[in-house]
This record gives sequence, C-alpha cells and structure tokens, in this order.
Amino acid sequence: MKRIIRTALLMSIGLTGTQCSTSQPTGAAQQSNATATVAMSQSDQEMKRFVDELLSKMTLDEKIGQLNLVSVGFDVTGPVVSENVDENIRKGNVGGVFNTYTPIAARKLQEFAVNNTRLKIPLLFGYDVIHGHRTIFPIPLGLSTSWDMEAIERSARIAADEATADGLNWVFSPMVDIARDARWGRISEGAGEDPYLGSEVARAMVRGYQGDDMTKANTVMACVKHFALYGAAEAGRDYNTVDMSMNRMFNEYMAPYKAALDAGAGSVMTSFNEINGVPATGNKWLMTDLLRKQWGFDGFVVTDYTAINEMMAHGVGNEAQVGALALKAGVDMDMVGEVFLKNLKQSVADGTVTEEEINIATRRILEAKYKLGLFEDPYRYADEARAKSTLMKPEYRQAAREIARKSMVLLKNEKQVLPLKKTGSIALIGPLAKNQRDLIGNWSGAGDWKQAVSLEQGIKNVAGNGIKINYAKGANLTDDEQMIQRLNAHGGNLELDKRSSEQMIAEAVKTAQSSDVIVAVVGEAQGMTGEAASRADITLPGQQRELLKALKKTGKPMVLVLMNGRPLALNWEDENADAILEAWFAGTEAGNAIADVLFGAYNPSGKLTASFPQVVGQVPIYYNHKNTGRPFGGELLDKYKSRYMDVTNEPLYPFGYGLSYTSFNYSAPKLSKSSITANENLTVTVNVRNTGNYDGEEVVQLYVQDVVGSITRPVKELKGFEKINLKKGESKTVTFTITPEDLKFFNNELQRVLEPGEFKVYVGTNSRDVQEASFTVTQ
Ligand code: BGC
Repeated sequence: MKRIIRTALLMSIGLTGTQCSTSQPTGAAQQSNATATVAMSQSDQEMKRFVDELLSKMTLDEKIGQLNLVSVGFDVTGPVVSENVDENIRKGNVGGVFNTYTPIAARKLQEFAVNNTRLKIPLLFGYDVIHGHRTIFPIPLGLSTSWDMEAIERSARIAADEATADGLNWVFSPMVDIARDARWGRISEGAGEDPYLGSEVARAMVRGYQGDDMTKANTVMACVKHFALYGAAEAGRDYNTVDMSMNRMFNEYMAPYKAALDAGAGSVMTSFNEINGVPATGNKWLMTDLLRKQWGFDGFVVTDYTAINEMMAHGVGNEAQVGALALKAGVDMDMVGEVFLKNLKQSVADGTVTEEEINIATRRILEAKYKLGLFEDPYRYADEARAKSTLMKPEYRQAAREIARKSMVLLKNEKQVLPLKKTGSIALIGPLAKNQRDLIGNWSGAGDWKQAVSLEQGIKNVAGNGIKINYAKGANLTDDEQMIQRLNAHGGNLELDKRSSEQMIAEAVKTAQSSDVIVAVVGEAQGMTGEAASRADITLPGQQRELLKALKKTGKPMVLVLMNGRPLALNWEDENADAILEAWFAGTEAGNAIADVLFGAYNPSGKLTASFPQVVGQVPIYYNHKNTGRPFGGELLDKYKSRYMDVTNEPLYPFGYGLSYTSFNYSAPKLSKSSITANENLTVTVNVRNTGNYDGEEVVQLYVQDVVGSITRPVKELKGFEKINLKKGESKTVTFTITPEDLKFFNNELQRVLEPGEFKVYVGTNSRDVQEASFTVTQ
C-alpha cells in the first residue's frame, strides 16, 4: 500500500519510481554526488537519488520557498509576520508550517500544499512540543530532577505518539541549553546546570521522539535547541549578549548539543544570542565549521523565531545582508522572518549568494521530508481515528502521574512531618492550592489546563474522606497589576483577589488555627518562567512570604508545596517551614502526583539539577565551578578571600540534593586500583544501605576532579549516577566504571586530552555530601 502511494506521488511530481532510482542527477545535485562517500548506506543513496531528481526539477523560486517556515495558527512568540499563507503555499513559497495541529487542520493544509503546487512537495508540520503534547508532563527542569532517563524517554515517546496523532511531524525539542542563572526564565525549559546530566537527558529525549525509525507514523523529528549557549545570557535577561571563553564553551556548555546530535536528532535550531561577537544565526564558525565539519551533522538548521531579521538589530547588516549571512553561515530554514523568501533571489542575481548555496539548504529540507516518509505518504500524521484513540488516553495520564511524582524534590522534612496521615484536618492554603492553569507550566500549547488535576482534587483522590480540607487562598500569586496584565496577555489566567492582603492573611490564619497541619501551596505563575520571563528578584512573589510568616506564628506544623519554574531564593522558608516539597509545574496529573508524595503513596526521589542560591546576588551559582587562587575556608576574619560580606558562598540547596522519607547510608568508595594508565578503566564501588523506615529510591552520584591540569579544572564534575531502589533495611553495591573518556577535557588548543596525574573521586547523595578517594593516572 505504502509503495503504491509513493509511486503515485512520484508520478504526480514527474518522477516515476524507476526514474527515481536510475536517472542521473543533474547540475548541483551532480556536484554533491561527486563528493558523496562510498560509505553511504543504501537507504541514503536512495534518498540522495530521489532528492537529486526533485531538486533538478525545481525553479530557483521553488527552492527558496522550501526554506521558508511560516506560523499558521494560534501561538506566536514574536511579531506576526506570516501573512497570505494560502497564497504563499500555492506559489510554492512555503517549506513548512508550525503552530497548527489536529489531524483535520493538518490534512487540510497538507492537501492544499500537495494539490496546489506544481511539484506537490509536502509540508513539514512543526510545533513546540516541549514537555508533552496533550498529556502534559512536568516542565523539563522537573523532568530532569527525576534523574530517571527511562521516565524522560517515556515522556518524549508519549509526546511523539500524541503529536503525530495530532498532525505533527517535527518538534522543537529538546532544549538542552545549560543554565546556571535562575533569573533566566528559560532555565525551566532545560535540564539545569550540568553538561553530563544534560547530555544524558538530551539523548533520552531524542530517543523518545525519534525512536529507531523516523518514517513510522508515531515518531517525530527532534530539533535540538538553541544552538548555542543561549543559557548564558548576561544577567539572566532573556535574549541578552553571551560572551564566553572557548575553554568554558567546550568543557561546560557544548556537550548536550553534541549528545543530542550523536543520538540522531534530525534538526537544530539556532539561538538568539551572539557568540564571539557574531549572532549565532549568522555564525559560520558555529554552524559550518563546528556543527557540520567537526561534528558531522547532516540534518537541517532552522533559525529561531525571526532570528535572521533580528541580526539587523544586532547591527550586522541590512535585510539582504543578514539573509546572505545566515545562508552562508549554514542556516537552511528561516522561521517566520521571510528574509530568505524576500531577498535570496535578488542576492543570487547580485552574486552575493550562489544557487549552489541555496541548493545545499533546499536539499537538506527535502531530505528531512524524505526521512519522515512524507514523500511516501504526506498524510500519515493526519489520522483522525488514531487521534481519538491516542490523545490523553488513560494510560498516558497514568504515565504523567508516575513521571510527575518522580520529578518532585523533598527539600526539607523536619521531624518527619511528611508523609501526612490520612486522618484529621489540613489547612490547605495558598494561591496555587486550587489552581489548574499554572500546573501545566509554560510551553504546553496543546495542553488543556482545564484537564489538570488541582492539588485540592488530588488530596481528595488520594486521602479520601478521612481527611477534612479547610481552604483559604491567603495571598495572590502577585499583587502587581501590571505583571498580571502581562501574564494574562500571554496565556495566563490570573485573577486578582481584591481583598486586602491583611484580610486574606487573617482568613488563612484562622483556617490554620482550626486545622492539624498547614499545607501551603505557594510559588510562581507559570508565565513567570519560560521565554521572555526573566526575574531580577527570585524570592516568592507578592505577599506569599508575609502569608507564610503569619501562618508560622500559629505554631502549627507547616508544609510548603512549591510550584515554580526556576530555583528560588528560599532562605526564610528553609528556616521556618517544617517541610518543603519542590513540585515544579508538574503537568496534567500534578495534583494526584503531589498528593501521592504528601501521603506517602510515593516516596520522593528527585534531586536538584540546578543549585538553589541563598540570595539572588549569588547567581550564577553552580557546583562544578573552578577554584580561585583565594578559596574561602570558613574563617570569620579571613578577609582577602573569594567571599561575600553578607552571605556564605554555598548555595541553599546544592546540585544533586533531595531528601527521601527514608535515609541512606553510604560506605566509603572503593577503587579497583590506585593507579591506572591513560588507556585503562577504573571501577568505583560503594555500598548503599536503606537505614530508614520506608522503601525508597536513591540517586547515587559520582563526581571526579582532575587535581592539576594544564588549564584550571572544576572542583568536581558529575561523571556517573545510578538511581537505585532499596527496600527498608536492604543494601546494594553500586559499581561505576570511569573510562579514559570521563577524565578528558578540552585544552586551550581545543584538543580533548587526558593529562596524567592525580584525580579525586567523590561519591555521595548530592554534590556536597560526598566521601572521597583518589587515584593516579600514569604516563
Ligand atoms: C523560541 C523557541 C521556539 C520558537 C517557536 C521562539 O521564540 O525561542 O524556543 O521553538 O519560538 O515557537
């Protein structure tokens, strides 16, 4: 059946199956044929022949049209530039669309493209499927705190299944930007501060999206973003300048992009920032020398939203110039900005770009369509019956609940206040206690927040009738009316309770006084993180801390449930709450998942992947920092050291930190050898015992430090972890293998080297609480 459809399509675009496999490519296609390696697989050869043929039939206008990506539909993240879409599609001026889904809409548009254009080339259908499509999982930062790669892969697999059932074939994910500055709103979209963990997550997500075969009807093409270094925006302000040494870039920021590509990600999105004074979207070193020549990437590069146009504001040229700059640098597809569409033909006429340069980009877009099987069946992602049986099916909601509870991090639990008993009364207080809108987080475009389970509902579901819930809102998420206006203008649903803060707090205090325990559900609105949502003050917004202060005075045990998209500065909360559960924006099943944790149906196992500062002035703060020449050792009067006058250097909660209802005891790490050669592996074993009263999971973490290097090395770097399950009283031996690759780094010539000498190994429950051992690598 598939074969017939494909042949029919080939005939309709003037290429029969036979021609497709036997005729000689012409022109530009011939040239690239000459450079093709003999190692090309048979399927790659078939693809090449097919694309050569198609390309040889295309006019320059049609080729340029393939490079144009337009936004059609509901969501925009910038100025609306895509106009006359139908007309443009008819003219062959569109290679792909995004922001449109549902099988009906996708089929309609695809039919329009296939039936109305001369060459009947199908469209790509992209979308920001970031942490689930219809069934929403925790925000990516939350997914990463599960440290559970199977769970993360599963979330991406389910997202792909739903997205493809909903007409999509391309997702703008994973976002793998390393972020160490909690002011940056987009820290919520990635896996935190560590390149090793970030690489594991990147691989898991690509596997989940693309599976082992992108032509399957339930797999999508991934798009790794934002290439590159977007997370290092100065002062945490979105879109801001990035300036970074090569040393830092290669040792601390690049690995997750490379990992996603090595896992086979089919496309890459550029970033908005500049790198070394050249905007990423026009940066030839980045996209050609590094990405393609060095890393061997053979998929296509799309810009971020209007990023080519934005190079004019960056100050590197007029519209025609920035268009040429982007193409020559290695961009293949222009998202929304239509700079390619409006300028490239003239640029060819002027001689600023060559048709061969355009052929290269067009070829990559056509190859992507081929890899997705769109030439075989342009409608394989527009199946209404599949949509009905797939979207938000109970099994997927159940998975969302399981994955969400794995993502939660227990930050404090004094006197075992948690888990709660299923009897007595709870004062359920706070602006997020009954909330649904914010639970699904930002970048959940196709998610329906009305389907989200509130915490109030979750408690009822999990604790049943034995418990009495006394509710009071207590505070608004924010009282800043302008902030509310801004949040609601972009998908928020905030309603300002007009009562005075004093009235709301008084009501909450009364509610607390008549209850056994306080569960205060506080945090941010979802729109306070994500794109264009940087905050300079990262404490709890509005009057929420005032509310907590008043509740504290009641003397009742106080449990905080936090919902937020970034590390917050929680000094006061840490000192005063009895328990704190970081729940992030946990998705469709948030309420059930949080209640599972609160009542002990699930023992929390999440660990932070981004350090929580004590105060905002400490950021950027990250565990894998360098030492200074004057490290501070803790002596009060030791003035001339790298320290602050008003706060210690440590984060409030370090990377890798998270508690459990049980406790774990670690033996000292044992090394297989005290000395190895540069080609040998080393094993590290540690025995971990569950010494508490609950079964539980623990993320055993391994860090390495290269003590002396030709360039300075971080105080420690994550090089392994294992999430283990231990029954009460049970113990397990965890074995890590350190390979030579784990000990290498990029020197200042950008060679990856292993330098002999002393190394330290740290094993523990987080990046701070570790036990150490050391070994030597000999020449
Ligand atoms: C964001 C990208 C996103 C794109 C398309 C941009 O503003 O930076 O992450 O994929 O919009 O919506």
